[in-house]
Amino acid sequence: MLILGIETSCDDTSAAVVEDGIRVCSSVATNQDAFHAKYGGIVPEIASRQHVALLSAAIEDAAQRASVSLDGIDGIAVTRGPGLIGSLVVGVASAKALAFALHKPLYGINHLHGHIFATFLDRDGDVPHYPLLTLLVSGGHSQLVEVESATEMHVIGRTTDDAAGEAFDKSARLLGLPFPGGPEIDKLAREGNPQAIKFPRHRAEPGSLDMSFSGIKTAVRYFIESDEGKKASKADIAASFQTAVVDVLMQRLAMAFERKPYTSVVLSGGVAANSALQHALRDWGKRTNVPVFIPPPKYCTDNAAMIGAAAAHQGEAVRVDPLTLSADPNLPFEL
Ligand SMILES: Nc1ncnc2c1ncn2[C@@H]1O[C@H](COP(=O)(O)OP(=O)(O)OP(=O)(O)O)[C@@H](O)[C@H]1O
Ligand SMILES: [Mg+2]
Repeated sequence: MLILGIETSCDDTSAAVVEDGIRVCSSVATNQDAFHAKYGGIVPEIASRQHVALLSAAIEDAAQRASVSLDGIDGIAVTRGPGLIGSLVVGVASAKALAFALHKPLYGINHLHGHIFATFLDRDGDVPHYPLLTLLVSGGHSQLVEVESATEMHVIGRTTDDAAGEAFDKSARLLGLPFPGGPEIDKLAREGNPQAIKFPRHRAEPGSLDMSFSGIKTAVRYFIESDEGKKASKADIAASFQTAVVDVLMQRLAMAFERKPYTSVVLSGGVAANSALQHALRDWGKRTNVPVFIPPPKYCTDNAAMIGAAAAHQGEAVRVDPLTLSADPNLPFEL
């Protein structure tokens, strides 16, 4: 089954063709880095205008690269939320028009479910098994999700303030690094000492898997403004910050696993591309003998292949009528 995936929830304009929810036939993505450099972040109005300008060509390009005509596609999947409303509407309107004109089934996908199904892409059959535990860490979310099946998922722990990706981006800005800051901190941290500065780690409340990152971010700000901080190397600050975030995430993940054993553990969302987090999770997997799955970096951050994959895995549960599908910037996580 060939699914055309469309993803425009934030500022990446992406289209992809995915076979059977596991093989990526093509994946086209354009980012808006030029605007990030100019404005220091995402400007919603610019992001949606760029989607209007780029999406049709991205869809055609994805079909061409997969050597399939749009008529040869079996279904169309689109991110319906959560995300920026102006951005979502561009993808949803295009998908509805295509599904209606081509008489193809339409699938309305939750962007966060997409991040989870990214883990099934291009793995040569070596896929995670249910029930699995996902640590979903991205620009807007940080949560532990118990995935019982493709359509039954429960959030069992979440950030009470900033998302991990947001903490990376804000701390990077304090260090004078460009947006998005996660990859920049990751790179710089390789030259630093992760034990140089003791940034605080959020402790779990009794019985809770919730986490918090605003304290670490504030501690970075105070440290940079201090006399000691003015003399410290940026690489040491980046490495120490990154270790603090990874410690909190890994501690909550281990706690979740102590409560209930899962068949596999999956890392998803943009922050899943972080090398220190990947290293810590692989290490944990080896020590505990639990199979660990991490998508390749290009499928960690926003992409349309993960949306096509989610549609194939979730099937009828997310199939919608082209005339009634609407974008929902606050789409709830559970189906
Ligand atoms: N190597 C990395 N290390 C740490 N963070 C990273 C890395 N690569 C990307 N990120 C972070 O991932 C985030 C982007 O992830 P993603 O594209 O999934 O977020 P989003 O789509 O904006 O948010 P959401 O998925 O919650 O709606 C950014 O905060 C970015 O800094
Ligand atoms: Mg995302």
